[in-house]
Amino acid sequence: MDPSTLPPGIARQFQIYSQGLAGTLPTVPLDPVQLDWQAKNKLKPEAYDYVAGGAANEVTIATNRAAFDCWRIVPRMLRDVTRRSLKTKLLGQHLSAPVLTAPIGVLGIVHPDGEVAAAKAAASLGLTFILSSASSKPMEEVAAAVGDAPRWFQLYWSKEPEIAQSFVERAERSGYSAIVVTLDTMMLGWRHRDLDRAYLPFLRGDGVANYFTDPAFNRKLGQPIAADPQAAIRYFLSIFGHVGYTWNDLSFLRRHTRLPILVKGVLHKEDARLAVEHGVDGIIVSNHGGRQVDGSIAALEALPKVVEMVNGRVPVLFDSGIRTGADAIKALALGAKAVLYGRPWVYGLGLAGEAGAREVLANFLADLDVTLGLAGHVSPDDLNSADLVHECKLR
Ligand code: FNR
Repeated sequence: MDPSTLPPGIARQFQIYSQGLAGTLPTVPLDPVQLDWQAKNKLKPEAYDYVAGGAANEVTIATNRAAFDCWRIVPRMLRDVTRRSLKTKLLGQHLSAPVLTAPIGVLGIVHPDGEVAAAKAAASLGLTFILSSASSKPMEEVAAAVGDAPRWFQLYWSKEPEIAQSFVERAERSGYSAIVVTLDTMMLGWRHRDLDRAYLPFLRGDGVANYFTDPAFNRKLGQPIAADPQAAIRYFLSIFGHVGYTWNDLSFLRRHTRLPILVKGVLHKEDARLAVEHGVDGIIVSNHGGRQVDGSIAALEALPKVVEMVNGRVPVLFDSGIRTGADAIKALALGAKAVLYGRPWVYGLGLAGEAGAREVLANFLADLDVTLGLAGHVSPDDLNSADLVHECKLR
């Protein structure tokens, strides 16, 4: 059997089982709970807690997961799913799968190669990598490491317009093909784990690479960073976000980039309406993986109402709590065009660098392919809400 001719899920199963005959086991666990647990045992405690943690009592993290259990897939039979493909199109761009890596900052705290390794892992599978503004490596270095691989840039919308402008211009110049503006983190959430440890990576100089290499940031700082690095970090914290922005301010970003602009962090259907009215090119339903508002609505529960309000005018993407192929299928069936996949590949990165992140991503895609086929579908674009039932014991 030539594995390269097989659908990705079957090829991966074949690879794992045949390596098992030679005594080789997968590098990272398949089960997301085991993956999390191994990362917890390997990473520095403060780094693990920074990644795993959420706002306050972390009810939102649990709610995100519980929401997936409320929806059940209704598989269809005898529909010839030999020729499956995960490929799809989004904003005129070809995606190898309806999956992008979620923008996750400060990856240097889990692995020295940080975003460079993670972006290479995504690129090796043809997945679009979304680089965070708060990355440990500058956006140009990440871009150079992956050549022409697909990539988007996530903007933390600085209080200083010149810095925000400079970021989107740099992103455009270095080959990022969309801007994701994160709306839910104009300030940091109240995170018990990090507060208990008095740990904020930025204060230690992690996650500020894009700022420290930015000409507008340096101009505004008014002195060389090396002259007083702590002053530069304090300045970064003072301009990181701005709680005073409103929907009308989006026109500023629109003026400074030709790239599609997506907003990340929409949960309320009225915000979805406002986003469309203010000319965004896409909406990402997300509660930031439960890191911002404790007791927030689950992202998956918000999705159908946002999809209904948007009514096909712009693509809606989904983020927060995706752990398995079935989770992705549920979000896609509820109207998401693609999903953002987050914490699990960060744990893979922490456990085994680029290879670990790649393996987590490859396993996720394989699971998605197998589950799609077993549910009776050949393409993610075939899914719709008739493929699900809502069965929730909590209601
Ligand atoms: C994030 N997230 C995030 N989002 C963003 O827009 N910019 C960022 O820099 C970061 N940084 C970040 C760091 C860490 C350690 C985590 C865990 C998350 C949020 C991220 O994009 C995504 O919304 C969540 O990770 C989704 O939740 P799950 O699926 O990972 O649980």
